[in-house]
Amino acid sequence: MIFEQIATGGCQSYLMGCAETRSAALIDPEISQLDQYLALAARDGLHIRYLIDTHTHADHFSGARKLAERLQAPVVMFRSSPAPYADLRLGDGEMLMLGKMRIEALHTPGHTSDSMCLRVEDRVFTGDTLLIGGSGRTDLPTGDPHSLYDSLFNRLLKLDPALMVFPAHDYKGRKHSTLGEEIASNPRLQVRDEAAFVEMMNTLNLSMPTHITEALRVNMSGGKSVAQMLDEAAESVPFMSLESLRASLDQVGNALVVLDVRERDAYEAGHVPGARLLPRGQLELRVNQELPDPTQRILVCCEVGKVSTLATATLREMGFASAVALDGGMKAWREAGYPLQTGASA
Ligand SMILES: [Fe+2]
Repeated sequence: MIFEQIATGGCQSYLMGCAETRSAALIDPEISQLDQYLALAARDGLHIRYLIDTHTHADHFSGARKLAERLQAPVVMFRSSPAPYADLRLGDGEMLMLGKMRIEALHTPGHTSDSMCLRVEDRVFTGDTLLIGGSGRTDLPTGDPHSLYDSLFNRLLKLDPALMVFPAHDYKGRKHSTLGEEIASNPRLQVRDEAAFVEMMNTLNLSMPTHITEALRVNMSGGKSVAQMLDEAAESVPFMSLESLRASLDQVGNALVVLDVRERDAYEAGHVPGARLLPRGQLELRVNQELPDPTQRILVCCEVGKVSTLATATLREMGFASAVALDGGMKAWREAGYPLQTGASA
């Protein structure tokens, strides 16, 4: 087996492939690491055939859908997953063939109702059902401590104790453990009475994951996160530095239109000298009057450089081929001590 473990903060993703056929599967890809996964697969001579999510993640953004589109490979999830974009849904005990290897799905609800563990040769990918020295929480949507107890004690822990455990999360930099080690020392697994286990899980009082609303929306719908919208816009536009903009203000006959897309009050409180006001919310409505020449060089700025990136992508999409975004925003401009003009637009 060819095997790579990729950590993104506490999130763990796994690329594994058959050494003979070079067919590979990627487990729990994270959206910010797509290039990293593809580069590793290329380095190892692997062809990714399956993008597998062990469950509906509530704390990070799955990269499965985007990679699936790029690679023309199916997104694999458990049969009951709410994700509409899951192309291949596995039932309990069903297997995927990966060259000479077999990936077996074990339905292990509890952390979520669609959680599955994946058994492959000498290891088991436990998702958030079993972590090193812990278990997944059961207080997020579709979580259930009774199901988790059953999945752990009556299912997962009955497998060969020599199996290596690779979880979907580890926040302490540990790579793996074994089922036997977890049975012996994982504090959650020492509570072997079901009622006591449920009581323990119900009184953990964990704080909510940072991006839970957005992560569930994105992972359950296949929509995009705000960060993904920004990344995609940033990939499609060129940027100009604050210093270049500052220098261009001194050039005689400068044909650059500086377009400030903030709201009027922010603009009037201080803008780049000569900048024109066109709030982002009115861009499409007023663009024909405000910017009649599509060949005009336009530099778009906002407060921190995010809305201006989206606005520049919109302008380019509309045919303003010379629109560029400011790398940074008015906040950085002010902090640099660069000149400001106040009051209404000329
Ligand atoms: Fe999870």
